[in-house]
Amino acid sequence: MVDKPAIQYVVEEAVAAGLSDVLMVTGRNKRPLEDHFDRNYELEEVLRNKGDEDKLGRVQESSDLATMHYVRQGDPKGLGHAVLCAAPHVGEQPFAVLLGDDLIDPRDPLLMRMTEIQERHGGSVVALMEVDPSQSHLYGCAAVETTDADDVVRVTGLVEKPAPGEAPSNLAIIGRYVLDPAVFEVLRKTQPGRGGEIQLTDALQTLALEPSLGGPVHGVVFRGRRYDTGDRADYLRAIVRLACEREDLGPDFRAWLRSYVSEEM
Ligand code: G1P
Repeated sequence: MVDKPAIQYVVEEAVAAGLSDVLMVTGRNKRPLEDHFDRNYELEEVLRNKGDEDKLGRVQESSDLATMHYVRQGDPKGLGHAVLCAAPHVGEQPFAVLLGDDLIDPRDPLLMRMTEIQERHGGSVVALMEVDPSQSHLYGCAAVETTDADDVVRVTGLVEKPAPGEAPSNLAIIGRYVLDPAVFEVLRKTQPGRGGEIQLTDALQTLALEPSLGGPVHGVVFRGRRYDTGDRADYLRAIVRLACEREDLGPDFRAWLRSYVSEEM
């Protein structure tokens, strides 16, 4: 994404919310991810010799960002299974889950608000966003009750990727969660659901219906900018927007974009 891998924006978001111990759940062929957040002495040396302080700073930034840990998922048995791989690392504390393909604009902070709500109510908190009903089948969708805070709802039910017309509301889960560790016990008992995978949404549905297990479940309704880098059009929008808004690249890029759009469209 311009000059940083998308995953670095996600780690930066966690760090900005005060979460600097990061466990990445990876899979086969994902070693470059680990290398990206590690020191790169050879490259640092070359840049130092060239006197390229700017690039050197950026290379070092990714390795100084957070305390990184890695665990491999092995068989890709679903998001719920990936979260379960983190259980030994997490222990007994509430923790956050950030899905790597969702980017939240740093100017619209979400995670901090979610940890605040988790501290106030206990249990778990999901990030929700209004989506067009034609898009509900791509998400976990929530049935909700209002609370006295305008951006917070109580989740009374969840459905993973509902069939068209069957979503309980137009509020969809986006890839940010702050969870009570009780979710691990529920996940261990959760049977494969949509797509034959162990779904985090199904475990949260159990907690929403049975708060005595480690609930309740609340939702923070996000009204800011979010990009799904797993969607090609959204990925392009995110890069163009990030480039336009950069102080260094923005002015030239915006001028080029304006002329491109007026000449080519
Ligand atoms: C996952 C979750 C889904 C959520 C979505 C957000 O689905 O299972 O509930 O709405 O992330 O991006 P995926 O996009 O991995 O299929």
